[in-house]
Amino acid sequence: MEVAVWLRSLGLERYEAAFRENEISERVLPSLTQEDLKEIGVGPVGHRRMLLEAIAALRADTGDNAPSANLAVVSSAPNVSPEDRAERRQVTVMFSDLVGSTALSTRMDPEDLREVISSYQKSVAETVGRFGGFVAKYMGDGVLIYFGYPQAHEDDAERAVRAGLELVAAIRDLKTHVALQTRVGIATGLVVVGNVIGSGASQEQAIVGDTPNLAARLQGVAEPNSVVVAEGTRKLLGSLFELEDLGPQKLKGISGPTRAWAALRPASVEGRFDAMHASGLTDLVGREEELDLMLRRWSKAKSGDGQVVLLSGEAGIGKSRLTAALLERLATEPHTRLRYFCSPQHTDSVLYPVISQLERAARLAHDDTAQAKLDKLDTLLAQSSTPREDVVLIAEMLSLPNDGRHPTLELAPQQRRQHTLEALRSQIEALAERSPVLMVFEDVHWADPTSLELFELIVERASSFPLLAIVTFRPEFVPPWVGRPQVTLISLNRLPRRLSAEMIAHVTGGKVLPQEIADQITNRADGVPLFIEELTKAVVESGLLVEAGDRYVVTGPVTPLAIPTSLQASLLARLDRLAPARDVAQIAAALGRQFSHELISAVAAVPREQLDDALAQLVRAELIFRRGTPPDAEYTFKHALAGC
Ligand SMILES: Nc1ncnc2c1ncn2[C@@H]1O[C@H](COP(=O)(O)OP(=O)(O)OP(=O)(O)O)[C@@H](O)[C@H]1O
Ligand SMILES: [Mg+2]
Repeated sequence: MEVAVWLRSLGLERYEAAFRENEISERVLPSLTQEDLKEIGVGPVGHRRMLLEAIAALRADTGDNAPSANLAVVSSAPNVSPEDRAERRQVTVMFSDLVGSTALSTRMDPEDLREVISSYQKSVAETVGRFGGFVAKYMGDGVLIYFGYPQAHEDDAERAVRAGLELVAAIRDLKTHVALQTRVGIATGLVVVGNVIGSGASQEQAIVGDTPNLAARLQGVAEPNSVVVAEGTRKLLGSLFELEDLGPQKLKGISGPTRAWAALRPASVEGRFDAMHASGLTDLVGREEELDLMLRRWSKAKSGDGQVVLLSGEAGIGKSRLTAALLERLATEPHTRLRYFCSPQHTDSVLYPVISQLERAARLAHDDTAQAKLDKLDTLLAQSSTPREDVVLIAEMLSLPNDGRHPTLELAPQQRRQHTLEALRSQIEALAERSPVLMVFEDVHWADPTSLELFELIVERASSFPLLAIVTFRPEFVPPWVGRPQVTLISLNRLPRRLSAEMIAHVTGGKVLPQEIADQITNRADGVPLFIEELTKAVVESGLLVEAGDRYVVTGPVTPLAIPTSLQASLLARLDRLAPARDVAQIAAALGRQFSHELISAVAAVPREQLDDALAQLVRAELIFRRGTPPDAEYTFKHALAGC
C-alpha cells in the first residue's frame, strides 16, 4: 500500500498497477534504477525523472522507526531542494485530532497508548495518501495535512473533504484497545510555503498564513466524528457534498465571527459540472455550428443509424456547457438519457463511472439497507427486462451482498469481467430498443481501463442502434475511435474577442463593465470561457466596482487582476505535474508572454539539454506554443494567466 500512496503523492498513480505487477515493495523502491523504470513500463522521460528524483530523496533519508509516515513526508516533496524558495500558493489544509486523548493518557498504560496513537497516525497517513494529501506534521495526536502542496490537483478541496469523511470512518472502525473518535477541520487559503526545516523524520514543510490556524480552530469546534469546513473551502465544493450550516463561530485567534459548515456525506450529483452550476448557467454564447452538428447526429441516431460524437478541448473551453445545451434542446423529445462521469480520483477504480450511474439511476440512498438496495436495483433492471444472470453480475459489480434471492455464479475472475461487460452492453442495447438513447461519457481522459473497454464495446456497435454517444475529453486523451464511419470529432476552439465580450455581459447580468476592466479580462482570459467567467465574477465581487444604473463604475485605482481562488488549483496542478520544468516555466514567465529560445538560454542558468527538455515538456503539456526549432524557436504562453 505504501508504494501506491507514494505514487499518488507524486501524481503518478497511473503506474500503481505496473508497480504492483512487478512486485515493487517499499523495501526495493529506494534501489530502483532508470533501467528498472523502463522495464516496469514508465514511458515518458519526464515521469522517469520525477520518479528518480523522488527515489533519490528516499535514499538520502537515513530512515527512522516510522517508515510509512516517513515515506510519505520525504517522498512527497521530491522537488524541494534545500535552498528552495518561499512560494505563495493556494493550499487546502486539514487538521485532524483524536477526541479525548488526554483522558486516554491518564487511563491507559503508556505502551498501549503509544500503540493506539501509532495506529491512528498510520490510518491518517494511509487515508489522506489515497486522496493525494500530504502529511506535513504529527503533533502527538494532531496531524497537519496539506492538499495542494507539494502537488496541486484541480480538485484539492473536494479531495480533502472526501479524505476527511473517510478518515472519520476509518478511525471509528480501527481495531484498537479502545474505541476512537476523531475531529477534522478543513480550510483553504493562500499561504507562503517556506523552506524545508530539519531533515529525515523531523523534516517539515512550513506553511505560513492563517489557513493552518483556521483549520485547527475549526477542528476544535467539530463534534466528535465530524468534519468541519471553512467558508473558503465550501465555495470550491459547489453542491458536491451535503453540508450543514453551523452558523457563525467565534474562533480563538481569528477576528470576527467565522462561518463554518459540517460536511455530512457526498451528495448524489450528476457530475462535477452540475455540482458547480447548481445555481444556474451563463447563457450560451457561440457554438451554433457545433450544436447544429450534434443535433444532426441525433436525428441520424434516432432513425437507427447510431452515432458517436467526440468532443475534445482544453479544460474550461466549454465541453460540458455545450453538452448541457444539447441536453436542454432535447429535453422535450422522448428518449433515455444515460450519463457517465469519470473522475480524477478514480482513474484506477474499476467501472467507477458505470457504478455511480447505476447507483443514481436506481436511487440508492446511503442509509438504505442492503436489501432495500437490491430491491431498487431489481426494479430498475426490470425496466429493461434484464436477464437473471445479468442482474446478478450487476448487483455484484455494485458490491451488493446477495441475500439469497439470486443464484450464485461460479465464474473465474476473467470470465466474470467479460460477462459483466457484456451484461452492461446488452442492458444499454435493450434500452435503445425501447426508445432512442442519449449517452454522455464525460471526462474520458480520467476513465479507468475497464470503463474504456465498455465504451469501446458501445462505440463499436453504436451504428446498429438508435443511440447517440457524446464523449468529452481533454486533448491529453487520444481516442482510438477517430476515423470510424459512425464517429464525428469536434474540437472546441477558444472564443473570439467579440464573443468574450458578450460572455462578460452575460456574467454581469447585462451590466456594463468599465472598458479598461473588460479589456483586461478579455486579454487575460484569452478566449477560455472558464477564465472569462471566473475573472468577471472575481472583479464584480472584489469591491473595486459599484453599480450605477446599468453599469459598474470603479471606486479606486485599477490594478492588474489577481487570479481568482477558483482557478488557482487547476493552474497550479498543471504546473506541478511538470515539476522538473517548473523552474524554467517561472523564468520564462518573468520574460513575458512571448520569449525566444535565445533569450531564455541566456537567462536560465541550466544546461542546454535540460533547458530543451523542459521547454519540450511545457509544449507537450500545452502550457506554451512553439514556433520554429531551437535555437531559433519562439515561444508563447498559451494562457495569459499562466504567464504571470
Ligand atoms: N459557450 C459558452 N457560453 C457560455 N458559457 C460558457 C460557454 N462555454 C463554457 N462556458 C462556461 O465556462 C465554464 C467552463 O466550461 P465547461 O465546464 O463546460 O468546460 P469544460 O471544457 O467542460 O472543462 P473541463 O475539461 O474542466 O471539464 C462553465 O462555467 C461554463 O458554463
Ligand atoms: Mg467538463
